[in-house]
Amino acid sequence: MVSIFTLVLGLGCAVIASAHPPNYHSSPDRLTSRANAGEQIFLGRFISTPTPDELLIQQGAVLVSSADGRGVINAVAWNVSSPAAAITALGAANGTTVVTSNDQGFFFPGFIDGHIHAPQYPNLGLFAGTLLDWLQAYTFPMESSLGNASSPMYANSTTTPDPFARAQAVYAHVIDKTLSYGTTSAAYYATVDVPATNLLASLALQKGQRAYIGRTCMDNQEYNPEYYRDESPEDALNKTLATIKHIQDIDPSGELVAPIITPRFAPAVTNQSMTMLAELANNMSLRIQAHADENVGEVKLVAEMYPESSSYVGVYDDHGLLTNRTILAHGVHMTDAEIALVAARGAGVAHCPASNSALGSGICHVRKLIDAGVTVGLGTDAAGGYSASVLETARQAFLVSRLLSFQEGQNASLSVPVTEVLYLGTMGGAKLTGMEGRLGGFAPGMLWDVQEIQLGNWETEPVDIFGWENWHDRVHKWVWNGDDRNVNRVWVGGRLVHQK
Ligand SMILES: *[C@@H]1O[C@H](CO)[C@@H](O)[C@H](O)[C@H]1NC(C)=O
Ligand SMILES: *[C@@H]1O[C@H](CO)[C@@H](O)[C@H](O)[C@H]1NC(C)=O
Ligand SMILES: *[C@@H]1O[C@H](CO)[C@@H](O)[C@H](O)[C@H]1NC(C)=O
Ligand SMILES: *[C@@H]1O[C@H](CO)[C@@H](O)[C@H](O)[C@H]1NC(C)=O
Ligand SMILES: *[C@@H]1O[C@H](CO)[C@@H](O)[C@H](O)[C@H]1NC(C)=O
Ligand SMILES: *[C@@H]1O[C@H](CO)[C@@H](O)[C@H](O)[C@H]1NC(C)=O
Ligand SMILES: *[C@@H]1O[C@H](CO)[C@@H](O)[C@H](O)[C@H]1NC(C)=O
Ligand SMILES: *[C@@H]1O[C@H](CO)[C@@H](O)[C@H](O)[C@H]1NC(C)=O
Ligand SMILES: *[C@@H]1O[C@H](CO)[C@@H](O)[C@H](O)[C@H]1NC(C)=O
Ligand SMILES: [Zn+2]
Repeated sequence: MVSIFTLVLGLGCAVIASAHPPNYHSSPDRLTSRANAGEQIFLGRFISTPTPDELLIQQGAVLVSSADGRGVINAVAWNVSSPAAAITALGAANGTTVVTSNDQGFFFPGFIDGHIHAPQYPNLGLFAGTLLDWLQAYTFPMESSLGNASSPMYANSTTTPDPFARAQAVYAHVIDKTLSYGTTSAAYYATVDVPATNLLASLALQKGQRAYIGRTCMDNQEYNPEYYRDESPEDALNKTLATIKHIQDIDPSGELVAPIITPRFAPAVTNQSMTMLAELANNMSLRIQAHADENVGEVKLVAEMYPESSSYVGVYDDHGLLTNRTILAHGVHMTDAEIALVAARGAGVAHCPASNSALGSGICHVRKLIDAGVTVGLGTDAAGGYSASVLETARQAFLVSRLLSFQEGQNASLSVPVTEVLYLGTMGGAKLTGMEGRLGGFAPGMLWDVQEIQLGNWETEPVDIFGWENWHDRVHKWVWNGDDRNVNRVWVGGRLVHQK
């Protein structure tokens, strides 16, 4: 039972607290003055998007308990402004650590990247043709070089290739960099290689990023290059099981890192591997991720390879991969029937506008997806996207929606405004990754996965604040011109994981 109660503390100050798990107003332990080492208070300005059209700006404090290692918001006290008042209002022990955000800054929910390829990171900004050419020219050589010393990437190498060392360097950097952008959760595609995929999971756990780690399954012998593929459906299943075992060994709770079943995209897999992977995901209640309807040539190829399915999304559905734990990247070319099918299954779409523009894939009709009841979050799709920043992706989501609204008879309702793109990057991502109600905001019971944004120093930061702007306008200015220089500190599950 969750009981919500409100105490009026005079002069408009109120405490809203959820009484689970500890009830600090009745617990005798609370009457001692010894600070609880597992608790921290965060004090300052809190900005979030509880709904797609509400930019909520609050001043106050929240109490985060890490007693069980999860870093959950146990109580909130809006309108308090001093550490002492926060401690009193939150019923915390005297001496509890109070982390204060600077007056020019604010706490904002950590971004959730619903679709990112960790091994492609070194290719950011490298493009050739459209999707299918680019995969062969840039993506497969790079991905294979993280697991295969005979990768074509090493053709002219003058030193002995060390794929694992390369994976270590790339993966450590991806996690550090995305944390510095305020990405507290990410749904990662790794490669076919088991040791490197396991390494990505271990690094995420060590560095403290919430991460869903997918070994990419690629058992189709006709489509995939011979230097980068699984040998058979059984090989794909075995190797997937090996990564699941590792990930569940290092984080048995699945709270911080968890496996995600990853049939790369329909052309890269087979009927047999899809059926087995769906069964595995179902048996173990695992999340699933794949690409769908990204590019016109790809859609045509899928229709040729799977003539018995009604559509691209239909291929996944026919094999049991379309579930309410499934994240489909892109969805640019989904037909109305496909959208209805995705909605009916409760699957979600990671909208990747920066990638879709860079690879010339097209413009995703996000409003249509949302109106049909499809869960939508954002994906950087690095390195189809040129940046691993969700903030950059959010502004691109705004921009492509503006172009679409112009193209569709200047239909303003197709625009996805600033508040809504922020919602997609936080609350939308939470829903997409099965973390609805646990990530994306500051309500009691939510995890403290938060970025502290700093504005106001135009010598060292990219957003020019003159001082007269209200906070609504400052947030908009941040969305358009902000970057990692505005991200002061980042926490995941209450743990400080990045500091500028
Ligand atoms: C905390 O300190 C204040 C001021 O010193 C004191 O009045 C209050 O009783 C203390 N509270 C607790 C819970 O110890
Ligand atoms: C906090 O103050 C604002 C502005 O005065 C007010 O609108 C809001 O209702 C207050 N919140 C609470 C929880 O008292
Ligand atoms: C290796 O060298 C050949 C010949 O110069 C060139 O065509 C090829 O692109 C190079 N490959 C790589 C991975 O650098
Ligand atoms: C590594 O690449 C070579 C060709 O470059 C290929 O023959 C071999 O099968 C690949 N190894 C693995 C494990 O994929
Ligand atoms: C898969 O693993 C099982 C048991 O670990 C083994 O017997 C089988 O040969 C493996 N199959 C392939 C294709 O690697
Ligand atoms: C999948 O199975 C269908 C029906 O048997 C067949 O037509 C198709 O060629 C198969 N495609 C792949 C890629 O396995
Ligand atoms: C799923 O569970 C069933 C029933 O326990 C089992 O027969 C099947 O082999 C499992 N499949 C996979 C892919 O794990
Ligand atoms: C997902 O679907 C299953 C049944 O397939 C259902 O039990 C579960 O409650 C659903 N979860 C959500 C979050 O809708
Ligand atoms: C504008 O777009 C909305 C949302 O897709 C749609 O419901 C409406 O019919 C469109 N209006 C026009 C005039 O096309
Ligand atoms: Zn992708």
